[in-house]
Amino acid sequence: MARQRILTGITTTGTPHLGNYVGAIRPSIAASEDDAKESFFFLADYHALIKCSDPQMIRESSKQIAATWLALGLNTEKAVFYRQSDIHEIPELTWVLCCNAAKGLMNRAHAYKAAVQANEESGEDADFGITMGLFSYPVLMAADILMFNAHKIPVGRDQIQHVEMARDIAQRFNHNFSEVFTLPEAEVSEDIAVLQGTDGRKMSKSYNNTIPLFLPEKALRKAINKVKTNLLEPGEPKNPDDSTVFQLWAAFADAGETARMRLEFENGIAWGEAKKQLFELINNELSEARDSYTRLMDDPGYIESVLQQGAVRAREHSSRLMERVRAAVGIGPMR
Ligand code: TRP
Repeated sequence: MARQRILTGITTTGTPHLGNYVGAIRPSIAASEDDAKESFFFLADYHALIKCSDPQMIRESSKQIAATWLALGLNTEKAVFYRQSDIHEIPELTWVLCCNAAKGLMNRAHAYKAAVQANEESGEDADFGITMGLFSYPVLMAADILMFNAHKIPVGRDQIQHVEMARDIAQRFNHNFSEVFTLPEAEVSEDIAVLQGTDGRKMSKSYNNTIPLFLPEKALRKAINKVKTNLLEPGEPKNPDDSTVFQLWAAFADAGETARMRLEFENGIAWGEAKKQLFELINNELSEARDSYTRLMDDPGYIESVLQQGAVRAREHSSRLMERVRAAVGIGPMR
């Protein structure tokens, strides 16, 4: 039987933070070690164009994200690691899928709907500032997924709808033409934490509450010290379950250490002390990778060569699949 194929993309806007690490990167790299699975990870740089028009930012973010995955030990002999824009068949497939995706389905996409709603609330024209890129975003994502006949798509909750749309588009295509596509499924892990940011809300670039993954040691300590706490004094019992400090702790500590910290909270550990221990825990897990990250960031030629090798492997799949798609819809050489 064919191995189960896992695929996920990372949009290349912004710098990876602890929330990305705990919620996506760490579990993905761990899963890619499993020989029963075949992993495809890619830099979604065409997706970046939807929300960012700063070329320098996209370039820098692509480099940071690639360096992050490599520094954390992604085995690129096993996992296929590539850049979306190197796979020319992806925009090609996007067009064919556009011709199979119902506009009405796209009207229901959350990101698009939220933009329309924001316009209506501020009295603007409903279409104000909305590009065809934003509107067609789920079709590009469907092409990413269907191109590699992926089974499982590990994503955050906000992306489940997009995976379902990909499935819907695949079904329609298979029905109208021939059984070319595997039907993908979103995979949302219940046991993987959605990390809180420094202000206690979900850690997210859009809330400006992130802790970048590879901050230099001093800056990491400072960022952890800024995590929001309540005003309870040393010696006063603290509730671990409503504490961002404890939640961060649990995301990095093993079960035994988590139980110990829970007890420390009940015994009234001082916030300063809890944060000091938290810094040490996180710093220990990341310091070695941080050194490789720094080296990789100084060696873009190496990163590029890894991505090029990934592209060659990815295109072995995508060029074959695209041929089947063209044949299915009636495009291609005369016979
Ligand atoms: N849209 C996803 C995000 O913003 C990134 C992404 C692009 C993706 N293509 C994908 C995720 C394909 C999974 C599969 O998080």
